[in-house]
Amino acid sequence: MDTLETSPVVLTGDRPTGPLHLGHYAGSLEQRLQLQNKYRQYVLIADVQAMTDYFNQPEFLARQVREIMLDYLSVGLDPAKTTFVLQSQIPEISELFVYFLNLITLARLQRNPTVKDEMKQKKIGADIPAGFLTYPVHQAADITVFGAALVPVGEDQLPMIEQTREIVRTFNRTYGDTLVEPRALLSRVPRLPGIEGRSKMSKSLGNTIPLHSDPGFVERQVMRMYTDPLKIHASDPGHVEGNVVFSYLDAFDPDQEGLAGLKERYISGKTGDVAVKKRLIAVLNDFLFPLRAKRKEWERHIPSVLEILRDGTVKAGQQARDTMGRVRGALKMEQFL
Ligand code: TRP
Repeated sequence: MDTLETSPVVLTGDRPTGPLHLGHYAGSLEQRLQLQNKYRQYVLIADVQAMTDYFNQPEFLARQVREIMLDYLSVGLDPAKTTFVLQSQIPEISELFVYFLNLITLARLQRNPTVKDEMKQKKIGADIPAGFLTYPVHQAADITVFGAALVPVGEDQLPMIEQTREIVRTFNRTYGDTLVEPRALLSRVPRLPGIEGRSKMSKSLGNTIPLHSDPGFVERQVMRMYTDPLKIHASDPGHVEGNVVFSYLDAFDPDQEGLAGLKERYISGKTGDVAVKKRLIAVLNDFLFPLRAKRKEWERHIPSVLEILRDGTVKAGQQARDTMGRVRGALKMEQFL
């Protein structure tokens, strides 16, 4: 039986580009709360990766790092169990990234489905920045420099893990067994839709419910939620699939039995949108209440918040230097000089 200190490393990361929201909670944070009890968990704030989009707005990123730490602490990620790491303070990641670049072709990078999707979304054509095309390789370095064996991800990040595995296999084949080949741990929760029913949640679309939302905002967002366009009156038959209110109730309602009953009444025309939205507002505010309290508390102690991040980064830096010692050995670098 592994003790916590010898258990496998599990690593997740977020770009600090905006407040974490209910979608992040259902898709990832909830799982991290469990994982921190079983594994050595690293949570990486990927500020260098965020620069692929925000390289011309450095002040913005600095502010977001603090905000995302408040989000983590308010949901209950525990600094005694989870190591928080600021990517930009681990130069070993960038060093490993450079060695990795020799092990992958441009054509393979251009085939990465996640990168292709993002290029389409951002309307990047032939003028693709090199940093954007290669960020999956940088991400492979994030994962391997800390020796992560498990990487919990949503569906959209699976190609990243596949690419990491390929790079690690090539590295180990070329230089001898040195790096841990990670496995993806696919999150079981399907992605929550934005409140208007679009699959993509984003701050600029205004279709999320951030974890720091006040009760008034939660209520306004729920009242705007897309439901069943064919159900005009409460007495009309209704649909729960594709109905955003029910997607959120599925994810957050602690009384799933009661919810099953509500669905039946909604489908058969015995209740309407107002009733289900009222239930969701209450469910979400109950859920967010303790998070708000914790956040307020941490907001009064910002220096401690930053110290937690600094301490985690120092500890992670040690791990990164260990790995790079082995990598440099495998690359025979001690014989260069
Ligand atoms: N690419 C991830 C995202 O956009 C963030 C990330 C950076 C990450 N480094 C990572 C995720 C390492 C997992 C492991 O959400």
